[in-house]
Amino acid sequence: MRLQNKVTLITGGAHGIGKAIAEAFAREGARVFIADVDVKAGRQTAGGISEQGGEATFIKCDVSVRSHVTTAIKKVAREGRIDVLCNNAAYISSHWHGAADAPDSEWERSFRVSLLGTQYFTQAVLPIMLKHQNGSIINLSSIQGMVAGRTSAAYTSIKHALIGYTRSVACDYGPRNIRCNAICPGPITTRVSPKAGSELYKRQVTRTFLNRVGEPEEVASAAVFLASDEASYITGAVLAVDGGWTAI
Ligand SMILES: NC(=O)c1ccc[n+]([C@@H]2O[C@H](COP(=O)([O-])OP(=O)(O)OC[C@H]3O[C@@H](n4cnc5c(N)ncnc54)[C@H](O)[C@@H]3O)[C@@H](O)[C@H]2O)c1
Repeated sequence: MRLQNKVTLITGGAHGIGKAIAEAFAREGARVFIADVDVKAGRQTAGGISEQGGEATFIKCDVSVRSHVTTAIKKVAREGRIDVLCNNAAYISSHWHGAADAPDSEWERSFRVSLLGTQYFTQAVLPIMLKHQNGSIINLSSIQGMVAGRTSAAYTSIKHALIGYTRSVACDYGPRNIRCNAICPGPITTRVSPKAGSELYKRQVTRTFLNRVGEPEEVASAAVFLASDEASYITGAVLAVDGGWTAI
């Protein structure tokens, strides 16, 4: 039980990687709060965790709306503290564009959800963590925060920005024992990933050393580690969970 009695908050925890992180945190003994726009799926995920004997609460929240974030943090803060914040929610479009074609709406949604949403949650949680001189913040970037991805100027830019943001938070609040790290997943099987067998899927597989795509639980294991006291001397780190994609 590596997260026993820790109060944790995961944004975008209704589906995919965030869901796997919420489930893994609960298995490790954490009290889990899931903030997501998808009410049905969010309730299902929290309910599933409770059925397995874990402690999970769903909070309806659009991370890009400051008032939603304030309300969500107030609810979680009733626990008396917040030990772990995992900023996982992102704007994931079904069609991305290169710089020549990307509409303003794509840039704006990417910025508001993936970057400003992370800032809203981090800004709201910091005073609580600072009071306790303890906290772990984990930001979900991407291999597209480390290297280029095709025709996705906005997503790639914002995921790079999240790494800068992670280092900035780590630098400013490290002296008060707040750690902040980024996880950069490679191709992971979720509802947004290409269909198995498709051209894009095959291309993704060949880019990895391990010759396969990853599973959400494999990203969740990295998040558990960074959330836990085992990672007490790790901050400002950028951890690729990508089967080797970025190592070549
Ligand atoms: N799947 C991959 O291959 C992959 C690769 C690299 C990085 N990532 C990153 O991992 C994270 C999770 O991706 P995923 O594949 O699990 O996606 P997903 O779509 O399965 O899950 C994203 C979750 O975020 C929620 N969400 C979206 N907008 C929101 C908002 N405005 N407010 C609150 N919640 C919101 C969704 O409802 C959903 O539950 C993202 O940051 C993504 O960029 C994923």
